[in-house]
Amino acid sequence: MSIERTFAIIKPDAIAGGHTGEIIKIIELNGFSIVRMEKKSLTRQEAESFYGVHKGKPFFLELVHYITSGPVVVMALERENAIQEWRNLMGATDPIKATVGSLRKMFGKHIGSNVTHGSDASETAAQELKFFFSDLK
Ligand code: RTP
Ligand code: MG
Repeated sequence: MSIERTFAIIKPDAIAGGHTGEIIKIIELNGFSIVRMEKKSLTRQEAESFYGVHKGKPFFLELVHYITSGPVVVMALERENAIQEWRNLMGATDPIKATVGSLRKMFGKHIGSNVTHGSDASETAAQELKFFFSDLK
């Protein structure tokens, strides 16, 4: 297993709920190094491009509306097997199905309001990191 990077977002519901610091603490306790971090508001155009793979799906408009509904924290995370480990720590997409101890179980309300984002493969991690942190080597 090698050191790798993944892209993560703390989504608007978690920020609005006051969970930013707690989530960052959990990220660090789980061995991730925060390589980059920025709080920002996504434009509609950025959101549509970022979630472009879901364009045409029934939940696309709701998804874009949600991710632009308030500020987010975007991060580049690094550790061994970071992509899978971050997906494991987030838990299943639907908080109801997420395992106990996962971030989505702890802080999530429903599938459309599910706390965090994580890249799902090495190709998407590379694309998403470049999209938000274009200067990252
Ligand atoms: P994410 O991309 O946000 O990390 O979430 P994910 O990989 O676990 O799930 P994905 O299939 O990529 O879906 C992206 C986001 O779309 C919303 N969604 N809603 N109503 C629905 O059936 C539905 N399915 C997906 C979720 O908010 C999910 O995080
Ligand atoms: Mg996804």
